[in-house]
Amino acid sequence: MSEWWDDAVVYQVYLRSFADATADGVGDLPGLRSRLDYLAGLGVDALWLNPCYASPQRDHGYDISDYFAIDPAYGTVDDLADVVNDAHARGMRVVMDMVANHCSDRHEWFQAAVAGRPGSPERARFLFRDGRGPGGVLPPNNWQSVFGGPAWTRVMAADGSAGQWYLHSFDPGQPDFDWRNPEVVDYFERVLKFWFDLGIDGFRVDVAHGLIKDAALPDWPGADEGKGDHNYAMWDQPEVHGIYRGWRSIGEGYAPERKYFVGEIWVPSVERLTRYLVDDELHQAFSFDLLVQPWNAERFRGAIERTLAQSAQTGTPAAWTLNNHDVHRSVTRYGQRQDLVDPSPSDMIAAARRIGEVSLQLGTLRARTAVLLLLALPGTVYLYQGEELGLPEVFDLPDDARQDPIWLRSNGAELGRDGCRVPLPWSHDAPSFGFSPPGTALAPWLPQPSSFGKLAVDMQLDDPNSMLALYQRAIAMRGALFQASVGLRWHETGQHELLAFSRGDGTCVVNFGDRPLSLPQGWDLELMQASGADSDQAQVPANSAAWFAGVPADHGAKPGETIEADRRLLETATVYRSQSVREQ
Ligand code: NOJ
Repeated sequence: MSEWWDDAVVYQVYLRSFADATADGVGDLPGLRSRLDYLAGLGVDALWLNPCYASPQRDHGYDISDYFAIDPAYGTVDDLADVVNDAHARGMRVVMDMVANHCSDRHEWFQAAVAGRPGSPERARFLFRDGRGPGGVLPPNNWQSVFGGPAWTRVMAADGSAGQWYLHSFDPGQPDFDWRNPEVVDYFERVLKFWFDLGIDGFRVDVAHGLIKDAALPDWPGADEGKGDHNYAMWDQPEVHGIYRGWRSIGEGYAPERKYFVGEIWVPSVERLTRYLVDDELHQAFSFDLLVQPWNAERFRGAIERTLAQSAQTGTPAAWTLNNHDVHRSVTRYGQRQDLVDPSPSDMIAAARRIGEVSLQLGTLRARTAVLLLLALPGTVYLYQGEELGLPEVFDLPDDARQDPIWLRSNGAELGRDGCRVPLPWSHDAPSFGFSPPGTALAPWLPQPSSFGKLAVDMQLDDPNSMLALYQRAIAMRGALFQASVGLRWHETGQHELLAFSRGDGTCVVNFGDRPLSLPQGWDLELMQASGADSDQAQVPANSAAWFAGVPADHGAKPGETIEADRRLLETATVYRSQSVREQ
């Protein structure tokens, strides 16, 4: 059965930085509502909203204090209902973020747990444990948080003495739930139903592989090496799958509406990823494999093949993405030196958050190319706000403006993620580039660089060569050339920097190299779209992609062969390779 998400283009809205209608320097739901025509004009099929629930914003909404309320800075539940209704009226679905691994330390349950006694039902909703060593002064185990530093924080006992420790995989302001407690399971069923009843079409599941920990909470042998991302006692435990079976059945209860779940899942192999995508669990998982690859034809092709192998195995469409609110923007990444090291689990994200010299000109050229490649692939494409404008990562934010817990917990050793979250420029000559309404006294919550002016929406709308125009054209043309659900056939071009594949009625050719490359002899295709100037029927310029109508006659696998090849690949494919991963 085909589903609305099978070949959807989903636009990620980082609400805080999208559009401010209430003149406080922070984006909000009325701001988003006022810009829905822009998104409809871009041609996207759905929106994914980063968390906008009530939150003290320690991790900008990924620390939720009330799952049944919208944060006042963003609006109200009624404002969200308005956004959903107006988006639906324009043919766009709305997906929210579901953060179920942890809540905020301000959540009423956690406050009750801190006030409660060790062993109390209030504490049993979280992972409280006694410390080790004399007086319990040492954390219960050696786990490290993803944001750096110990994954345990100690609370005070009622009499003011030091008490138990609680687990937080991320910031201390984000205590982890104990998902083996049925109360937690019931609670989230109510949360899902509340938002589904309001009209939400699905959820992006935050750290979907993290909700259950090894019950013994064992020490992690690799702790000295750094952070907790690849401590597999913390992640990817077998019982986690039961949670998604439960969620899926709640979603199915809304039939004939198709409620949808896409997982943020970091696991060490394609095989382990597929376990989340069986019939009765999540519908999709992001393909981060592609996102972390350097600009290299072989690397891109490998990641695409591994993802398609997983897709063929599970019968679920791939969910491609090159940008999100956690990584440096692609314009910047592709303008940096490209290292061909294999990213290991602990530096997967780091691979997409490197600092160093950037050529924005080259990065922009390649980012244009990358999005044409992405939009030609079979499956769902996730875009992150601002990439359609070609915004770069902002590296030079003042220290005192930075808010990411990664920056704060590493004492500035790591820049963190603020640089990809800078508020959008809408008008080149307005204060705050039109992010806030005229006359707003407060500055945007993160300062915008002056270079954002020339990238503002109003500068790009009428320029056929702009990044925005390229996105609009490609999204509009995609379905006609590369029909939904049709598999991909690679062509051997004889030049290792030139990737080419056909799908449906179209052929996509990508030149990863630094000099123009000719199409193979005998290809008689019609050029429809190109990421760079100077593409023609015969050659693709350096660092460029082109879409052609037509399929080369005698090249590539026959239909059906690709699927078989995909299945064979799966046997050997790993999402990433590392000696340090302890496979279970
Ligand atoms: C993944 C989210 O994408 C990230 O932004 C957040 O900080 C962590 N999960 C913790 O919720």
